[in-house]
Amino acid sequence: MKGLILCGGKGTRLRPLTYTRSKPLLPIANKPIVEYVLRHIHQAGITDIGIVINPTIEEEFKNYFQSHPQVRAGQIHITLIMQEKPLGLAHAVKTAQPFLGGDDFLLYLGDNILEQGPAEAVAEFKRQQLDALIFLKEVPEPQAFGVAVLDEQAKVVQVIEKPQQPPSHTVLVGVYLFSAKIFEAIDSLKPSWRGEYEITDAIQHLIDRQAKVQGKVLAGWWLDTGKKDDILSANSTVLDAFAVQDIRGEVDKQSKISGRVAIGAGSVIINSTIRGPAVIGEQVRIENSFIGPYTSIGDKSQIFDSGIEHAVILNGVYVQAISRLEDSLIGEDTRVVKSQNKQLTLRLMIGDSATVEI
Ligand code: DAU
Repeated sequence: MKGLILCGGKGTRLRPLTYTRSKPLLPIANKPIVEYVLRHIHQAGITDIGIVINPTIEEEFKNYFQSHPQVRAGQIHITLIMQEKPLGLAHAVKTAQPFLGGDDFLLYLGDNILEQGPAEAVAEFKRQQLDALIFLKEVPEPQAFGVAVLDEQAKVVQVIEKPQQPPSHTVLVGVYLFSAKIFEAIDSLKPSWRGEYEITDAIQHLIDRQAKVQGKVLAGWWLDTGKKDDILSANSTVLDAFAVQDIRGEVDKQSKISGRVAIGAGSVIINSTIRGPAVIGEQVRIENSFIGPYTSIGDKSQIFDSGIEHAVILNGVYVQAISRLEDSLIGEDTRVVKSQNKQLTLRLMIGDSATVEI
C-alpha cells in the first residue's frame, strides 16, 4: 500500500503566512502539520509516500525533505507530484496515478491532524478487501464538509460535498483508503458547482456501482487547520495531548517553569515564568517575561519584558515590552515592539493580508 498526501491547495485563508510558506509546513507545537500526517502514515506501515504540491511550493518542499531525518535514513521514501492547478481533490489524486499505479493507497489531506492514526483501519480495509474506507466524524455544523449517510452495518449509502441541507451530521474528515477502482470513478467525473473535481463525487460513483465502501467513525479529535483560530486551537489541542516536560536549555534561578514545558537546546530563560503546556524551540532567549499555557515559540526567537499566552510564534521573532500578547499567530522574522514615542502613534510595517487588532 502507498500513501498520498495532498498539499496542492493555495491556503488563501491563512495569508499572509501562506505567501511565503505552504500551509502543511506551518508549525503546530513547533512541528510542521505535515509531520503529524507523515507519522500516522508511517505508523500504518506505509513507507512509499507521494505528496501532491503546486508549483509555488516546490522549492520549499524539496528543501524540507532534503534534510528530513527519516528520508535521509531511508525509512520513508517521498515522491513530490506536481499538480499545476488546484482543480480539486479527485484531480489531485488523478495527477498521482502514475505514482500510485494499481496499488491500494491511503489518502490524507495535508492540512488535517488526527489524534489517532489509521493503522487499524488499514488492516480492516485489507481484511475486508474494500474499495473505499472513509474516515468520519460527527460535527454540529456539517455544511462546510463532505457529508455521509451510513446504514446499520457502517456501509456508506450516500456522500455529498458541502450540502446546503445536510442529510446527517457525519462528515468526511479528509482521510481515505482506496483501491485502484477509484480511478474508474474519477475518470467519469464532471466538475462540481464550485468548479472542482470532487473526491466525494468519485466515492458516490463507487457506491452507485455497488462497490464495497465502508465508513469508520473516529474516536479521537480531528483538527482542520484552515484559519488563524484553527491553528491556535490545533496548537492548544496538540500541546494538551502531547507536550512533555523536557528542558534542554538553561533556566536561571529566578525563573519558574511549571507544568509540561519543553525548552530546546541552546535556549536561555532569565528571570521569567513559563507555564505549560508550552513548547519553546532551540536558541530562544526569554528575559523578564511570562509565557502562559498553550504557547509555542519557534527557534531563535527573543522575548524581552513581555507576556505571551495562547499564541503561535514562528522562528526568529523579536518581542519587546508587550505586556499581553494573546490569541496571536506571528510569522517568521517579525518584530513586535513597544514604540518609544510618547504620543499614541502607531508605526507599522505590515505585509499583505495581515490582521492587526489594536
Ligand atoms: O477537511 C475535510 C474536508 O476536506 C472534507 O469534509 C471534504 O469532503 C473535502 O472535499 C475537503 O474539503 P475542503 O474544502 O476543506 O478541501 P480543501 O480545498 O481545503 O483541500 C484540502 C487539502 O487538499 C489541502 O491541503 C489542499 C489540498 N488540495 C486541494 C485542492 C482543491 C490539493 O492538493 N489539490 C487541489 O486541487
